[in-house]
Amino acid sequence: MSLQQEIEKRKTFGIISHPDAGKTTLTEKLLLFGGAIQTAGAVKSNKIKRSTVSDFMAIEKQRGISVATSVMAFEYRDKKINILDTPGHQDFAEDTYRTLTAVDSAIVVIDVAKGVETQTEKLVAVCRRRSTPIIVFINKLDREGKDPFILIDEIEEKLGIMVRPLSWPVGMGGTFQGVYSLYEKKLVLFRPHGKPQRGKQAKDEVLEFKDLSSPDLEKHIGERAAATLREEVHMVEEVYPPFDKQDYMDGLLSPVFFGSAVNNFGVRELLDCFVDIAPTPLPRMTEEREVVPTEDKFSGFVFKIHANIDPRHRDRIAFLRICSGMFERNTNYLHVRQGKKMRFSNPTSFMASKKEIVDVAYPGDVVGLYDTGNFKIGDTMTEGEILHFTGLPSFSPEQFRYVENADPMKAKQLAKGLVQLMDEGVAQLFTKESNQRKIIGTVGALQFDVIQYRLEHEYGAKCRYEPTRMHKACWVTCDDAAAFKEFVARRKKDLARDKDGHLVFLAESSWALKMAQENHPKVEFHFTSDMKGEQ
Ligand code: G4P
Repeated sequence: MSLQQEIEKRKTFGIISHPDAGKTTLTEKLLLFGGAIQTAGAVKSNKIKRSTVSDFMAIEKQRGISVATSVMAFEYRDKKINILDTPGHQDFAEDTYRTLTAVDSAIVVIDVAKGVETQTEKLVAVCRRRSTPIIVFINKLDREGKDPFILIDEIEEKLGIMVRPLSWPVGMGGTFQGVYSLYEKKLVLFRPHGKPQRGKQAKDEVLEFKDLSSPDLEKHIGERAAATLREEVHMVEEVYPPFDKQDYMDGLLSPVFFGSAVNNFGVRELLDCFVDIAPTPLPRMTEEREVVPTEDKFSGFVFKIHANIDPRHRDRIAFLRICSGMFERNTNYLHVRQGKKMRFSNPTSFMASKKEIVDVAYPGDVVGLYDTGNFKIGDTMTEGEILHFTGLPSFSPEQFRYVENADPMKAKQLAKGLVQLMDEGVAQLFTKESNQRKIIGTVGALQFDVIQYRLEHEYGAKCRYEPTRMHKACWVTCDDAAAFKEFVARRKKDLARDKDGHLVFLAESSWALKMAQENHPKVEFHFTSDMKGEQ
């Protein structure tokens, strides 16, 4: 198969949701359709039910370096579909943000009863920034929930996206009878007691309905439901413009599906539409130029590093998304940041619960590279060209603590541990300009415990935290050198450097941030380190 054909075969996406909306369940059902797993329950939830470090460590240990659930690939209708898993716990949202840089599209799962929740809002905002095409799946229709029209309005308003329903529910909760697929013009009946187990639906459950006015509709769902369905579908067709694939591809319009993941219901309709419309691997920007997947020469970037928690095996896996050309095992590639050639004798691919050594991989694929500390998040590999993929931002952390060495004999171990954990993207380290004290910034509070635990168990170092009053860290830039110099001189006590030496303003409160912005209008304050992306 040619490179072009390999690329056209691939669809790489992520599923995002607020915890408990049904992401793990949906992932599992998709894998069942693809035949990648045979039984329900095979996908381990990576969700931490309680926010304690021991829970987190237990799950990490159980996952170990196999990290089989980080990337799940399956074949469906001759396509190779790669699902990139994202952590369920919101304290690890930054990991999810970064994974979203490696996908070409996303499916957003929303609980019909809970509607749009905070985590969904944040994650969709990241997709919107990147114009990532999104399909929405409204889940748990077997339970009572919000009125579909009201929910769709809420989605448009809170997520800031335009939507177009491509399926519509018949009833809900106790009266749920199925969904009507506007995309395929089919009525799919819900039979809660005859659950399709292996991704197959019995023939009599899917009925073609090119014309909903057919009196046959009553026979299947009864008079009342038929009248309601006709009326609601009519309204959908009136209110929403026809589905436009280009608008979806441009990240402007999101098709909406309804279903019940746990009952494997409405999932096939979602998957079939996904396979039809979701983008194949897209071009990606580097600082130097745009990289197109069909280029002959290989290039890729590291978007995630997973450490082995087992102290006997200290290696890590760096996850590399292939952006162009063909990646081959045992071939020398350039590690651009380090300026050295590296070859990989056992790059790994992940097929649901199995992992395999790969000889070749193509754009859209993700390979796991065993690493002994060479990689940082965002690193680029090429066949020799100097490229730096952009768009892998660090996000402004929301929690801050000073970190101090609690064991003077282990200063070196502490320094090494902190650097490595930061390379993995566990948290961000800032060094204050005024006194060189180190501050750890995280998205969630759980990371502080995880860092302390891992420093002790993996590096033999002990750290102590001290509170600091801080509201936000934002990266600062300025085109006017004199204005910047003045800002730096006046605000020195509030400035720090991030791991790459970029200047960061540490605001004690939202008011302090506002004042700084007002007093220094020429200085730009960025809430991600990817300065091109965010205001
Ligand atoms: P997450 O990964 O998004 O956090 O959610 P997950 O799939 O783990 O689902 C959260 C809970 O919602 C699970 O129940 C799951 O069984 C349930 N669920 C998923 N889809 C549906 C659905 O379509 N209808 C209904 N009624 N429930 C659904 P749990 O009790 O937390 O876990 P479990 O013990 O059932 O595994």
